[in-house]
Amino acid sequence: MMRILAPSILSADFGILGEQLRICDEAGAQYVHIDVMDGMFVPSITYGMPVISSIRPYTNRFFDVHLMIADPDRYLEDFVKVGADSITVHAEACKHLDATIERIKRLGVKAAVAINPATPVDSILHVLGKVDMVLVMTVNPGFGGQSFITYTLDKIRQVAKYAADNNLSYDIQVDGGITRDNLQEVLDAGANVIVSGSSVFKGDIADNVKYFLERM
Ligand code: DX5
Ligand code: ZN
Repeated sequence: MMRILAPSILSADFGILGEQLRICDEAGAQYVHIDVMDGMFVPSITYGMPVISSIRPYTNRFFDVHLMIADPDRYLEDFVKVGADSITVHAEACKHLDATIERIKRLGVKAAVAINPATPVDSILHVLGKVDMVLVMTVNPGFGGQSFITYTLDKIRQVAKYAADNNLSYDIQVDGGITRDNLQEVLDAGANVIVSGSSVFKGDIADNVKYFLERM
C-alpha cells in the first residue's frame, strides 16, 4: 500500500490557512485532513463547508474530510459540493452505516469508516468490503495534541489482518497523537495513511512534513 501523509489542519494557524496548505503541498504531503466537529458527536466545534470551499483553491491535494458529527447523512452532498475527495463517517454516528457508505460512493467520492478507540473492529466488519479506507482512531476524537492510546495498535493489526485474510485492499488510516516517536510503530502495525496535526503544524511545517515523509 502507498504510504500517505495527511496533515490535520486542526492545528494550523487559521489566519493564514491557505498559505500553510501551500507549504504542506510543496513539501510533499499528499492529503489535507479536515476535521469537522459539531459540538454534539464530540465536544468541540470546528469548521464546515464555507471554510472548505475557501481553502479549496489553495491546493490540488486530496481533501480527506473526517466528519465527527451526529447523523452525517444530512450533509454528505454539501461536503462533496465544496470539494471533498473522501468522506469519513464514524460508525458510532450512523444509524445505518452500510447505507451511508453506499450513499457516499454514489456521490462519486471515496468512502471511509472511522471507529473510536472503544469501538471494536467487529462492529464494522459488515462494511469492510465496501470502504476505501478504515480510520482507526488512536485518541478519543475532539481535540488535537492528545496522547496516542497504545491499545489501538492491536486494532490496526486486526484491520490489516482482515484485509489480508479477505483479499481486500482498503487503506488504513490512523489519527490522533501520531508523533516522530510512534510513527514507526503504527506503520509496522499496518497503517498506511498517517494523520498528524500538532506534529506537523507546531514548528517548521515544511521540515516536519519532510521528516515524516522521509520515514514512511
Ligand atoms: C482528533 C482529530 C485529529 C487531530 C489530530 O479528534 O480527528 O485529526 O487533529 O491531532 P494530533 O495529531 O495533534 O493528535
Ligand atoms: Zn481527524
